[in-house]
Amino acid sequence: MTLTAKEKARLKSNYGEWAIVTGASSGIGLELAHQLAASGINLIINGRQEERLLQAKKQLSRHQVQVIPVVADLAEAGGIDKIIQASRGLPIGLLVNNAGFGTSGLFVDASLFTEINMLRVNCEAVLSLTHYFAQQFKQQKRGGIIFLSSLVAFQGVPYAAHYAATKAYIQSFAEALAVELKPFQVDVLAAAPGPVDSGFAHRANMKMGNSLAPEKIGVPILKALGRTNNVVPGLLSKVLVYSLATVPRSAKIKIMKKVMGGFTQHQR
Ligand SMILES: NC(=O)c1ccc[n+]([C@@H]2O[C@H](COP(=O)([O-])OP(=O)(O)OC[C@H]3O[C@@H](n4cnc5c(N)ncnc54)[C@H](OP(=O)(O)O)[C@@H]3O)[C@@H](O)[C@H]2O)c1
Repeated sequence: MTLTAKEKARLKSNYGEWAIVTGASSGIGLELAHQLAASGINLIINGRQEERLLQAKKQLSRHQVQVIPVVADLAEAGGIDKIIQASRGLPIGLLVNNAGFGTSGLFVDASLFTEINMLRVNCEAVLSLTHYFAQQFKQQKRGGIIFLSSLVAFQGVPYAAHYAATKAYIQSFAEALAVELKPFQVDVLAAAPGPVDSGFAHRANMKMGNSLAPEKIGVPILKALGRTNNVVPGLLSKVLVYSLATVPRSAKIKIMKKVMGGFTQHQR
């Protein structure tokens, strides 16, 4: 999928010359970075794996934009500082809080170290970067912030209990910020995809069915920015969300137990 020339021009005119995409070395972040670069927006891209990030820079630079790779682990305070330092003096207009990962299986059997690491990347880094850049956006009376939520954000999800909790944090944070920042012309979007075929499942030790290619969800996310505060990219995910809208939360948890149970069955 590609953005129309009109959409590309809208993104550049609304969010300006520079965007930051965390976790842009693969999957959804890389696809969003591609679409933004194709819109003529310069990028700061981040990830931990230097080789993949440099490869991404090479691909993105073909769109005749400047690309600054920041190799940084967002589980560490120093990693967040590296992104802030790289942005100094640049007119950043868009922050894409995309870096994240999941875990799965029984929470009691999980490594607490990994779970805390996930909390830092999925929530604490998002909190810090959003606090820093939202101040700039408020001052310049222009900006956009995209948060990567998930379909798991809307109820508890057995076998991905803590990952789902990190995404519930993101969803709630984004929904409220959208209202607080609207008077300052700052657009906030929570994007809640269902399964996406990226590096995510391997790292989370899940086997996901019916997953969409990242190329199917980048465009719907960027088209939604500035038009709505929530987007569920992908037809199947939309159908799932809307058909579950009136189902009581306790029943949704049971349904998600079945779904996530299927994704993690190989572990038991
Ligand atoms: N895939 C799905 O089914 C799905 C569904 C809903 C929401 N999401 C969310 O979408 C976002 C992107 O995931 P994805 O599916 O594109 O997975 P992915 O292909 O594994 O990409 C994750 C990205 O985050 C980066 N990252 C991970 N840990 C990091 C850390 N500690 N510091 C800095 N960067 C880090 C990775 O880069 P390095 O490996 O180089 O560090 C990579 O660029 C995540 O927030 C995820 O929770 C995914």
